[in-house]
Amino acid sequence: MKSIVASFLAIAQMSWAAPAVPVIDVYKSPTCGCCKGWIDYLRENGFSVRSHDTDNVVQHKVRFGVPSGYGSCHTAEIGGYLVEGHVPAREIRRLLKESPQARGLTVPAMPIGSPGMEADGRKDPYKVFLVERDGSVQTYAQY
Ligand code: CU
Ligand code: CU
Repeated sequence: MKSIVASFLAIAQMSWAAPAVPVIDVYKSPTCGCCKGWIDYLRENGFSVRSHDTDNVVQHKVRFGVPSGYGSCHTAEIGGYLVEGHVPAREIRRLLKESPQARGLTVPAMPIGSPGMEADGRKDPYKVFLVERDGSVQTYAQY
């Protein structure tokens, strides 16, 4: 009896400690190594990731509305938002928390030193952009 109560408490505490973070769906080419790096990074940061291999990542970029010139290697979707490229976990959490009227976030291209693009401690500066509903962009964060 005591152990049943204890396990109920454990479950209650677990659900208290982990508010429902929606699943992130990632669309990537099966051969993309840095995409895998970003997925591992997200998992380490507490996200639950569903990874989808596809030979046509572009169709998903079109579907989620990645503005031309702002694309990267993979495209993801979380809670109805677009997440394009090597976006830091912190900005994804901030996006979900602030829940702006927008398409989502992008880190264009693949900056060295961004999550999943680590290389010998080299870090190139890069920006995270917020993609507005109309497809325009504004700076959301700078790294
Ligand atoms: Cu990449
Ligand atoms: Cu990628």
